[in-house]
Amino acid sequence: MTVEKVRTGVNGLDDILDGGIPRGNIVLISGSAGTGKSLLALSYIYYGAKSCDESGVYITLEEFPERIIENAKTMGFTDIEELIESKKMVIMRTDVFDLEKLVGGIEDMIESRKAKRLVIDSITVLSAFSEKPFMVRKSIYELANMLKRNNVTAIFTGGIESTEEGHFGVSVEEYAVDGIIRLFHKVVGSQFVRAIGVIKMRGSSHSDTIHPLGISEVTGVNVLKDLPLPENFRV
Ligand SMILES: Nc1ncnc2c1ncn2[C@@H]1O[C@H](COP(=O)(O)OP(=O)(O)OP(=O)(O)O)[C@@H](O)[C@H]1O
Ligand SMILES: [Mg+2]
Repeated sequence: MTVEKVRTGVNGLDDILDGGIPRGNIVLISGSAGTGKSLLALSYIYYGAKSCDESGVYITLEEFPERIIENAKTMGFTDIEELIESKKMVIMRTDVFDLEKLVGGIEDMIESRKAKRLVIDSITVLSAFSEKPFMVRKSIYELANMLKRNNVTAIFTGGIESTEEGHFGVSVEEYAVDGIIRLFHKVVGSQFVRAIGVIKMRGSSHSDTIHPLGISEVTGVNVLKDLPLPENFRV
């Protein structure tokens, strides 16, 4: 049986994922600050709305929707407002203090939009605002179950402590998800170098190589799968 793949539309990423994310999977995109998590997640929702007729919900727990939209327009997503107006996608900021309400609110939005794609940017914020780790874990599991029930393919973004880098860690989020993609932004010589690697993806083969990642206003986010990383690049 072949697994249906959901194309991310991010140049090069679908190739290293053997076609895309298996439908219904939840994927964690983790990386330290400024590695490109939000841009990659937004590209996924935008591409689904624009090119795949798949309605998407982008939940932002960090940045304001207006800022995200303004920035997206400078990254070449010039028609993002039209996609939002025609209800093909929505960027929504939500209160994180009531976790049960949060999960219920996301489900209502998914049902009313018949959404196929979801982003939560970032899942780390949930832990940061709750004193009760058990409640956060419970909410993440409830959220994951709800997404499976609705056959939604989701991306969660997550930060990692800078001290944790290089250690392919074991946070709550990493257990609850089907796939993990790690982003890097490292000093090599006198340059910052961006990179991306797939750590796991249930139901799919994937590249085991760490590939260079490009972010530019002209071409957006690109996995440069045919280019090598500098030899002295270390994660
Ligand atoms: N409009 C833009 N034009 C050019 N480069 C951009 C633009 N927007 C973002 N970038 C580049 O992409 C980088 C990553 O941005 P992004 O917000 O996706 O990172 P992030 O991993 O979500 O960061 P954080 O952990 O702070 O949320 C920025 O630091 C910047 O270098
Ligand atoms: Mg971000």
